[in-house]
Amino acid sequence: MKQDMIVILDLGSTENTVLARQIREMGVYSEIHPHDITLEELKRLENVKGIILNGGENRVVDGTAVEIRPELYDCGYPMISVDYPASKCEKQYDMLSKEALHTFLFDVCKAEPNWNMKNFIEDQVELIRKQVGDRKVLLALSGGVDSSVVAAMLIKAIGSQLVCVHVNHGLMRKNESESVVEVFQNQLHANLIYVDATERFLGKLANVADPEKKRKIIGGEFIRVFEEEARKLEGIDFLGQGTIYPDIIESGTKTAKMVKSHHNVGGLPEDLKFELVEPLKQLFKDEVRACGIELGLPASMVYRQPFPGPGLGVRCLGAITRDRLEAVRESDAILREEFEKAGLDKKVWQYFTVVPDFKSVGVKNHERSFDYMVIIRAINTVDAMSATIERVDWDILQVITDRILHEVDNVNRVCFDMSPKPPATIEFE
Ligand code: XMP
Repeated sequence: MKQDMIVILDLGSTENTVLARQIREMGVYSEIHPHDITLEELKRLENVKGIILNGGENRVVDGTAVEIRPELYDCGYPMISVDYPASKCEKQYDMLSKEALHTFLFDVCKAEPNWNMKNFIEDQVELIRKQVGDRKVLLALSGGVDSSVVAAMLIKAIGSQLVCVHVNHGLMRKNESESVVEVFQNQLHANLIYVDATERFLGKLANVADPEKKRKIIGGEFIRVFEEEARKLEGIDFLGQGTIYPDIIESGTKTAKMVKSHHNVGGLPEDLKFELVEPLKQLFKDEVRACGIELGLPASMVYRQPFPGPGLGVRCLGAITRDRLEAVRESDAILREEFEKAGLDKKVWQYFTVVPDFKSVGVKNHERSFDYMVIIRAINTVDAMSATIERVDWDILQVITDRILHEVDNVNRVCFDMSPKPPATIEFE
């Protein structure tokens, strides 16, 4: 292994991730582990240089204060504690200053600042090869940042032992599936199975207007299509997954409360049991992007804005029809093109169009028209829990409006959504 590591033991701090990031920013790799890790488990971790017992307000669980296993004090690694009454420790702190952390990492633990993407990738490649051997891994490749980076990592580690399945549910943005095929099949020579399931999804969604029902149909059908493809393949033992660090943390640690359940390609039937390969599970989102760039993925793929799993399905409001789906797809492409031209793609967190399921009256070529409207949404946020709108320059909006009205069929009106979150959500459904 290339990288030294500092282990943070979670003894109820709310700041475990802040500390992990701080240590990584100082150039040393850091992982958070549960307070009740055994000495044996700890010894199995490679290149550990030191341990921080990180206590805090969540230390009392169900009326009892959590403790580390006493044998851990004999692990032989330098150890400090923060806001935790430890018995045998180098030092105990109420709060850890930057200077004290620096001293611990580099003077006490003698850690090398060797945490960088190149070393991380080399380590992961070695670990993946060790885990997988000469067997095969299956990966659902949506084209999103996380699954794309996992795919690139697995291609580097095991080449054609990776089988990628890309399911086009017909609700992708313009040219999105094409670019997955171009990058992974044509450039990286991945073993890629492309499934065009557009008709199947649109068939199931016909006349379904309820947002939650739409989401359930899209999610459920996605698993079924993926499962059907998996059953056609033989000798697959592993499932690759783009789980990243926030997914694990948001699912709750032993001391923190659960924020939301961890969603991934779960839901596969019992007899399709795979062992998981999750090479990004220790990375924060910005680190995932840096990893993708280091692996040679195009910046447009790695820095793309978030896109919901149900895709344009939740932006073609109400019961999906082909004409409105096309209007969403084309207007979204125009919006993205113009935002890129204006440099807004690097400034605005998320921007897209939606098309409601009602029409309004207009005039076209001196005649009455009765057509759909496109609503533009452009928001900024830190964590997607709340959001403010971007004050897009009027002239840019004018250009986008003109293009949508001239280039997109069945549209006679363009609006801009002024609503922050809350009370609105970012998506409409
Ligand atoms: P809302 O609409 O809840 O969206 O304010 C917050 C963020 O989450 C994205 N989003 C999803 N992402 N699967 C995803 O991976 C989904 O089903 C989903 N629904 C919403 C949304 O685009 C926004 O960035």
